[in-house]
Amino acid sequence: MIDSLKEKIIEQTNATVLANESMSNHTTYGIGGPAELFVLPSSKQDLIDTVRIGRDYKQPVTIIGSGSNLLISDNGIKGVVISIKHCLKEIRIDEEKVYVECGVILSKMIRESMKHNLKGLENLIGVPGTLGGALIMNAGAWGGEISENLETVEILNEKNKIRLLSKKDIDFSYRSSSFAKESILLAATFKLKKSPKESIHENFDVARAGRKNTQPLNYRSAGSVFKNPSSKHSAGMLIDQAGLKGFSVGDAEISNKHANFFVNNGSAKADDMLALIKKAKNAVKEKFNIDLELEVKLLGFDVKEMSE
Ligand code: EPU
Repeated sequence: MIDSLKEKIIEQTNATVLANESMSNHTTYGIGGPAELFVLPSSKQDLIDTVRIGRDYKQPVTIIGSGSNLLISDNGIKGVVISIKHCLKEIRIDEEKVYVECGVILSKMIRESMKHNLKGLENLIGVPGTLGGALIMNAGAWGGEISENLETVEILNEKNKIRLLSKKDIDFSYRSSSFAKESILLAATFKLKKSPKESIHENFDVARAGRKNTQPLNYRSAGSVFKNPSSKHSAGMLIDQAGLKGFSVGDAEISNKHANFFVNNGSAKADDMLALIKKAKNAVKEKFNIDLELEVKLLGFDVKEMSE
């Protein structure tokens, strides 16, 4: 089945198709077992065709960007994993309107907008990942959220049709959005504001310095592991106060710099990270009676594993 699916994708698209590709090559953690089929489409049409073929074969289709918010199981992922990194890369700027395809790295989009003196995204500088992941997570930092200046999002729906959603069709809240699970985000438009360079750089500098001072940027991580449970309680503070900074399982470690960042010191396995996740969750529940919710997305795990 997988072999015939592979042949079909090769026959009908110009995508690069790899069997049993280790996902550790495609996540910022550097962790993850093999994807049965890993596909790098070379164009938007390739992407759409690959999704359609995968769905026709009734195989699970998983889309990834730069793998910056993912913990992928050591057992890997069944079906087709498609990276949008090389196929959805366009940025177009017209006055205050910015059109960006969802495989564009967020920081690139921010820097391009800043070159045009456009304000509104600069607080997000340094947030890792592609625009697609940022929209799904409603990424935020230093008081800004990606959904703030958003106007429209172009998606491929479960029937493989392209649809244009306006912002009012989508509910955004803290690190969450209402996109249907089967929707694949293709592109978005933003309306930013022409502003003096200095005022944009002021925000940019605060965000960049803040991130550098508080987060372990020189280590392999997936950003914040847990969402903050409320505006009063930050997950990092709670894990820190539970005494877990520096706690490690194998090469996976709760960062000494920021306790909501777990780092891979070399050869950490997904199971090691999962053990840290459970340890932190249990310790915070025990000490503060607060249930931490994951911000990092788990892929390829048996869901039961997280409810243990
Ligand atoms: N703190 C500790 N110990 C720690 C870490 C933090 O006591 O180990 C304390 C800090 O001293 C501070 C409070 O906890 O008083 C909050 O920490 P911080 O300012 O670092 O912010 P955060 O709530 O941990 C959030 C976002 C980040 C975003 C920053 C800046 C979440 C889960 N995290 O972090 O987003 O960059 O604010 O706006 O919402 C991400 O989502 O991946 C992410 C990195």
